Amino acid sequence: MNNSPDRIIIFDTTLRDGEQSPGATLNVAEKLEIARALARLGVDVIEAGFAYASPGDFEAVQKVAQTVGTENGPVICSLARAIKTDIKAAAEALKPAAKARIHTFISTSDIHLQYQLKKSRSEVLAIAEEMVAYAKSFMDDVEFSPMDAGRTDSEYLYQVLEAAIAAGATTINIPDTVGYTTPKEFGALIKGIKENVPNIDKAIISVHGHNDLGLAVASFLEAIENGARQLECTINGIGERAGNAALEELVMALHVRRQYFNPFFGKATESTEPLTNIDTRQIYKTSRLVSNLTGIMVQPNKAIVGSNAFAHESGIHQDGVLKNKLTYEIMDAQSIGLTDNQIILGKHSGRNAFRTRLKELGYELSESDLNKAFVRFKEVADKKKAVSDRDIEAIVNDEIRQPPELFRLELIQVSCGDLSRPTATVTIRTPEGEESTDVAIGTGPVDAICKAIDRVIGVPNELIELSMQSVTAGIDAMAEVTIRLRHQDKIYSGRAANTDIVVASARAYIKALNRICADLQTTAQAEPAAL
Ligand code: KIV
Ligand code: ZN
Repeated sequence: MNNSPDRIIIFDTTLRDGEQSPGATLNVAEKLEIARALARLGVDVIEAGFAYASPGDFEAVQKVAQTVGTENGPVICSLARAIKTDIKAAAEALKPAAKARIHTFISTSDIHLQYQLKKSRSEVLAIAEEMVAYAKSFMDDVEFSPMDAGRTDSEYLYQVLEAAIAAGATTINIPDTVGYTTPKEFGALIKGIKENVPNIDKAIISVHGHNDLGLAVASFLEAIENGARQLECTINGIGERAGNAALEELVMALHVRRQYFNPFFGKATESTEPLTNIDTRQIYKTSRLVSNLTGIMVQPNKAIVGSNAFAHESGIHQDGVLKNKLTYEIMDAQSIGLTDNQIILGKHSGRNAFRTRLKELGYELSESDLNKAFVRFKEVADKKKAVSDRDIEAIVNDEIRQPPELFRLELIQVSCGDLSRPTATVTIRTPEGEESTDVAIGTGPVDAICKAIDRVIGVPNELIELSMQSVTAGIDAMAEVTIRLRHQDKIYSGRAANTDIVVASARAYIKALNRICADLQTTAQAEPAAL
């Protein structure tokens, strides 16, 4: 890659930093599905995981490298601490990729050096240099991150970056790990690096930032004005704590405000050349996929992909938009792939129409998954007249994208009301194939359901979130229930959709419990490395 590209390199870290969101754990098949969607979206680099962290992470990086890392596909990257074992594992997992990158990092702020690493500045500088050179012995494309760069002494930061570039780093990534800097400060940090690191012309400047103060996207845009050419971001802005800079916001800012940004790339203001390689019409689909697979809902007022992002409520706005969209809309909903689909499926729609619509929505199901989804579609179509795209998405999510189904709900019956004590009866099929039935009383129907299920499955947990959303408008709408549980300090989520909220709640709860049980089975095999 040219070290001063005339467009932005989009480095997607949904599968690595995004997966560090509490409760967002994805299995290998789910990671592959997201990686394929990211390739369709047109990202330049996919950070597929942290290969050394666990056998599951290693396998995910390797599978993404094998499947998506083709000659014309994106660069596939693995994170690695500045430790030989990590770097070696990353190189090994990345072998099948046509284009691969090792991303190695070490903290450089005094607070991290003193309390976390317990090392001096000179020791860290030497490690950075040595480990970049070690990574370089495996491949040419090496990225180096001085973690907590936003709070690192700038003179020391320049020295570390100079050493890393001299040792072979082709990208130097500047992380605002704790989301502390203001956009102006972040822009000045990039400017300082450009002016004070003597060999900076040999590397691409990248930025990585967290949204603790809600400033990540603004800081990145300021960084671009000062010379950053790679942005590390995630779909829907998911990630550690308050998340990362959101890919869709960055890309659409560069798309909608191209004329403003063109001069920073040495282009004429009127140039219509895109500033990223992203196919913006894939944005909405990819956002829905990531939300469905991670169980992390997109807030309605989220920029670009929230359900209200293109909805006009006030009479004055509606009036203006009817007269001319440009009065209150700065971008077209179709530019992110939101379509007004006129053809609604219903109970008379056949398998072919269903398959075609799934394809249009970006789902390619195997024949057996298609059969399962079609049976569910018919059930839903019997209950509600019109089955919308969102309903179909909910069906696929509920029926096909299951965590390992260890326990299965066979029956649920609830009685409740203001004159009776909420009581739930459940029958669950255990992994051994036996049916077990139990009953519980709760403060409300959902409490009774969870208590009855707990009596059968018996995995201790704390329910930390239960949210219910109707998939579409109307009294016959399907409800989508998302449940998040805490078990031994880890968060697990489950999501299910049904026209009956009681059934959806029970299924979502069992899905989250299945994730815990699957995790308990695999954690015995490997102790993950701490990030
Ligand atoms: O936030 C951070 O500093 C990171 C690094 C590993 C790049 O995620
Ligand atoms: Zn991060």
